[in-house]
Amino acid sequence: MQPIRLAVLVSGSGSNLQALLDARAADTLDADIVLVASDRADAYGLQRALQHSLPTACLPLPRPADPAKRPAARAAWEAQLAAIVAVFQPDIVLLSGFMRVLSDHFLDRFPKRVINQHPALLPDDSGDLYVTKAGITIPALRGAHTVSEAVRRGLPVTGCTIHYATSRVDDGPVLARAEVPILASDDEDSLHERIKTAERRLVVDVVNRLARS
Ligand code: GRF
Repeated sequence: MQPIRLAVLVSGSGSNLQALLDARAADTLDADIVLVASDRADAYGLQRALQHSLPTACLPLPRPADPAKRPAARAAWEAQLAAIVAVFQPDIVLLSGFMRVLSDHFLDRFPKRVINQHPALLPDDSGDLYVTKAGITIPALRGAHTVSEAVRRGLPVTGCTIHYATSRVDDGPVLARAEVPILASDDEDSLHERIKTAERRLVVDVVNRLARS
């Protein structure tokens, strides 16, 4: 079977990217990582990619001093990012801790091919509630602070979701999720680390599933 071509977009540490790199090295990933791109030059994920001699690209989002110029600058940035990614002809574009919301201008270049990792449980229906396997109803947390929010709200359980991306934040058809219990001793860091442990397994599974479909 031909491995699929995977482009990975990161803004930070890239430990999920590392899980994919490790799986590829162990021959347990049916994908070639063809590009790692970031909006941040200091994203450690770029270093991880360079250590594997993979193509990398860094494209910071410009922020003009004049707020009126920002929408056009952002649109141009998305078009440039899409053009770079398209050069590598990915079958799947994985947003793996990529901290920018991409609009339809980007997503339409890669229809049904952009997937996102989110560190909370999202429902199938785009709604505001999620029912756990044990039948507990919890809020569907979206945005950049879901891990601290899960701790702050005293939820018994949270988790992670991988879903197709839409231009709405943390929304779109769900591919897979995993539940992670919240311990009384958890703070944001300890909980996020356990969520990421689940995410690293899930992302390898999902990429393999997409490769085989
Ligand atoms: C993950 O928790 C992912 O769900 C979120 O950002 C984190 C990325 O972690 N969107 P890492 O950079 O792979 O370590």
